[in-house]
Amino acid sequence: MMYEIAPSMLSADFTILGEQLGILENNGCRWLHIDVIDGSFAPSISFGMPVVKSIRKKSGMFFDVHMMVQDPGRYVEEFAACGADLITVHAEACIHLDRVLQQIKALGCKTGLALNPATPLSAVDYVLDKTDMVLIMSVNPGFGGQSYLPAMTEKIRTLRQKLDAAGHPEILIEVDGGVKTGNAEEILNAGANILVAGSAVFGGDLAANFKSLDEIAAKFR
Ligand code: DX5
Ligand code: ZN
Repeated sequence: MMYEIAPSMLSADFTILGEQLGILENNGCRWLHIDVIDGSFAPSISFGMPVVKSIRKKSGMFFDVHMMVQDPGRYVEEFAACGADLITVHAEACIHLDRVLQQIKALGCKTGLALNPATPLSAVDYVLDKTDMVLIMSVNPGFGGQSYLPAMTEKIRTLRQKLDAAGHPEILIEVDGGVKTGNAEEILNAGANILVAGSAVFGGDLAANFKSLDEIAAKFR
C-alpha cells in the first residue's frame, strides 16, 4: 500500500511559493495537497486555476486537488487542464455525485471523495467503483492550523474495514486536518494512507518538518 505525506499548500508563504515547493520536492515530497476553497461551500477563499497552472510548470509532484467548492462539476475540466492528477470533491457539495466522479475519471484524473467530520461513511456506499481515494476531513473545512478531531480516528478505522469488506482494499484513505507528528502514527495505524499536513509542514523549517512526518509514514511502507 502507498503511504505519503501531502503538504497542504494553503499554509504556504505565497511570496516564496515556488521556492517552498522546490524545497519540498528536493527533500523527497511526492504529493502536494492543493486546497481550492470558494467561500461558499467552506467559509474562506483560497486560490484557483491560475495558481495551479503556474506551479504545474515548475513541479513534478502529484497534484492532489481538494475542491471545497459548491457544485464542483462546473470546474473539474478546468482543473484537469491546469494539471491536477487527482481531484477530490465533497459528497456534501454535489447534487449528482456519481456523475461528477465519472466526469473526473473521463478527464483522466484519479477521483477523490471527501466527507466532512459529521458526514456518515454511508455516503461512499454506491460509488466505490468510481472512487480512487476517500478523504476524511479531521477538521471542519476552510482553514489550516485547526486541531484534529479525535473522533475521526474511529471513523478512519471503520472506513478501512468497510472498504476491505466491500472488496476495495486498493482505495486510498486520506486524512486532512490537524495532522502532526504527535498523531500521525495513530492515524496511519487506523488505516490511513495519505496524511495531509499544512501548518505542521509550512510553519518553521520546511524540510525538517516534512522529513519528521515522512519518517513516520516510512515505517508503514
Ligand atoms: C482545510 C484544508 C486542509 C488544511 C490542513 O479546509 O482542507 O487541507 O489546509 O491544514 P492543517 O494541517 O494545518 O490542519
Ligand atoms: Zn484539504
